Amino acid sequence: MTSLDPQRIKKDFPLLERTVRDGQPLVYLDSAATSQKPRAVLDAERSFYETSNAAAHRGAHQLAEEATEAYEGARARVAGFVGARANEVVFTKNATEGLNLAAYAFSNASALARHGREVDPRFALRPGDSIVVTEMEHHANLVPWQEVAAKTGATLRWIGLTDDGRLDLGDLGSVIDSSTRVVSIVHQSNILGTITPVRQVMDAAHAVGAIGVVDACQSIPHMPVSMADLGADLVAWSGHKMLGPTGIGMLWGREDVLATMPPFLTGGSMIEMVYLDHSTYAPPPQRFEAGVPMVAQAVGLGAAVEYLDDLGMDAVAAHEHELTGYALARLQEIDGVTVIGPRTNVERGSAISFTVEGIHPHDVGQILDSRGIAVRVGHHCAWPTCRRYGVPATTRISTYIYNDHGDIDAAVAGIRAAQKYFGVA
Ligand code: ALA
Repeated sequence: MTSLDPQRIKKDFPLLERTVRDGQPLVYLDSAATSQKPRAVLDAERSFYETSNAAAHRGAHQLAEEATEAYEGARARVAGFVGARANEVVFTKNATEGLNLAAYAFSNASALARHGREVDPRFALRPGDSIVVTEMEHHANLVPWQEVAAKTGATLRWIGLTDDGRLDLGDLGSVIDSSTRVVSIVHQSNILGTITPVRQVMDAAHAVGAIGVVDACQSIPHMPVSMADLGADLVAWSGHKMLGPTGIGMLWGREDVLATMPPFLTGGSMIEMVYLDHSTYAPPPQRFEAGVPMVAQAVGLGAAVEYLDDLGMDAVAAHEHELTGYALARLQEIDGVTVIGPRTNVERGSAISFTVEGIHPHDVGQILDSRGIAVRVGHHCAWPTCRRYGVPATTRISTYIYNDHGDIDAAVAGIRAAQKYFGVA
């Protein structure tokens, strides 16, 4: 495994060449929100529009044929990246849509069952059933399940957190019990950086016959992930956090699960036969891809996957692990800085949230921004997690393949400057 050279990689990303805030070099430490895009991705999208643009899966002309091949080729590439078969990967608008697709399968099946329609009983929920999430979920993997609970009468439960930012598995056996029908958890927390023991939780879900769902937005871009190892039934993630364009996400599903899962969006392309009073649906993945698909985005995503494959995901993970260890050490040297989440570099990813005593996280972000350093501040769409740790918000740095020690040093100098500015040094 060769190690990554962030300085060389940076040259592939046109945006990272720009300056911000009066000519200062950009230090981009917000890849957990979205990654920057290499030239190869931009070129692939442009080339598609310049040469083969057409609506995939429609039309009999040459361009339509090329667009369909490009779209399906991207699907095969993405599937290979996570050790899956192409027909198990559904393209969605983003990960939020993928998680909603999963959630709506349950509320739609429950509604259909109430009206006497035959549905896969694994998806039909009733009062008395339970849905399990965790206290570190992104809102995208929490609010849709709250909605399912409200529509079906099922109860929402959650696995709590330990003080050091891990899942509290002490009461796993009582949270996931015979009433549990679905367990949906994050693989790597976007706010705490924690890598969760997904396999253990999925096995607990399967032991009671529940469907297991995983939000892998922050893990698949950063480490080798194989669908077989996760042991889930449905896995959602986004393209734009893994060097790809915005507007495309993925929902992987086990073949037998997708086979009976009710659709979410309906309309063109997802049908088999349509009559005035009823329709039958195409097999997966088409059943879940109503409307003209995002072909250019899929092509760009395919190029992103090729770029990551060329680097090697083992090398990507090793680079980030080293950088995270460095960042944790440097941040914790600063008096008044508290890392919210695992403080050691064990089973954690590169998103590091912290507070600085005496300074509001937004003010820390503003001082960093004034020095050209882009970080995220706020509740990071994980409000209950902030409440669990008694903080209104955090400042978060998150790194990727193009970051190095110099970027972390710049952030550390910026935090010290903020302390000086606010008189808390
Ligand atoms: N989910 C993204 C983040 O954590 C947007 O910033």
